Amino acid sequence: MKGKVVLAYSGGLDTSVAVKWIQEKYDSEVVTVTLDIGQVDDVGELKEKSCKTGSVAHYTINAQKEFIEDYVFPSIKANGLYEGKYPLGTALGRPLIAAKLVEVANKEGCYAIAHGCTGKGNDQVRLDVTVQALNPKLKIIAPIRECNLTRDQEVEYAKSHGIPISHKARKYSIDQNLWGRAIEGGPLEDPSIEASNDVLEWSKPVEDTPNESEYLELEFHGGVPVSVNGKKMGGVELVNLVNHKAGSHGIGVIDHLEDRLVGIKSREVYEAPAAVTIIEAHKDLEKLVLTRNQVEFKAIVEQRWAWLVYSGLWVDPLRVNLNNFIDSTQKKVEGKVKIKLFKGNAGVVSRSSPYSLYDSELATYSSSSTFNQKTAEGFTDLWGLSSRVAHNVNFEKSKEDDTD
Ligand code: ARG
Repeated sequence: MKGKVVLAYSGGLDTSVAVKWIQEKYDSEVVTVTLDIGQVDDVGELKEKSCKTGSVAHYTINAQKEFIEDYVFPSIKANGLYEGKYPLGTALGRPLIAAKLVEVANKEGCYAIAHGCTGKGNDQVRLDVTVQALNPKLKIIAPIRECNLTRDQEVEYAKSHGIPISHKARKYSIDQNLWGRAIEGGPLEDPSIEASNDVLEWSKPVEDTPNESEYLELEFHGGVPVSVNGKKMGGVELVNLVNHKAGSHGIGVIDHLEDRLVGIKSREVYEAPAAVTIIEAHKDLEKLVLTRNQVEFKAIVEQRWAWLVYSGLWVDPLRVNLNNFIDSTQKKVEGKVKIKLFKGNAGVVSRSSPYSLYDSELATYSSSSTFNQKTAEGFTDLWGLSSRVAHNVNFEKSKEDDTD
């Protein structure tokens, strides 16, 4: 034996095949690691399956709190949405998975890290880049990518090597954590066909949602949610609760035509009820407490932040710089936002903050207004000056051209 390899393990076909493949082709022992960031149903079953497949050790690491506080919270502050739509669930999970794999590899004295990613997706990039940044000595093994394996070949390999695989036909490829479910493949590969409701597990099909609306009051402190309907709770509990409540009203289904890092366009369906609701509320509260300049400039930063995270560059110093800027805008993002949940829509209906910049004496149309309308005359005169001059010159010019 050449040594030990640590494998990111989900218990699915790809990673089960990888266990045997690494033993055979790399003459190495395999240590499996599953990071629980909100997707593990049965820890015992997973360990048993890993051992049966031939691993020498298995770790299930519960990292839900770390995931929410160190990855999801920064994303809430950044209103993290790739291409304005995808709340980055999978993308946020990967650098944490990579960091934990490196920890176990160092502890177990492994010479390599392995994963079951294909060469077509974003996840290979996210894992490889983070692992190599954290420990450049570790080799990376990706059997599916290296051998260009198809699913049928994997099933064949599993059968001939006695690897237990679930017979439940897997229609879609699914990745899931507390911040969302990502569903792709199978019938979704035709973007011209509407996704069937059978992809949904967290969000009810809108047709089946209650005919009565429900209100949700989120309280934010330092840019992150701290309570729901007046009850303070930790991040994991809060995200679970909002997923459940918003999901029951059909909120959070995102059908996305997405540009992958490797240049492929793909069609993905996401379920992210908490992400959609919390980001909507957070954005609204920011508009109450930040200036127009801050809101507009932050939107540019947010776009770049989401791009870096999506593209697997969590470790890039620019991402850290942007987070420092974003954090500096969040100190006053404090207050309460009420959201109405109804038929697939999470709409903000009220907001308040001790740092509100809304001045009702300026905004009111009543006689108590302190706004001096007279000053607007000079303002509009100068505001439109250069545009007016240019318009008139061009207008005169086009009249001349017409008479030519
Ligand atoms: N497209 C998303 C991303 O790159 C999600 C991919 C999740 N994988 C899956 N098998 N559904 O982050």
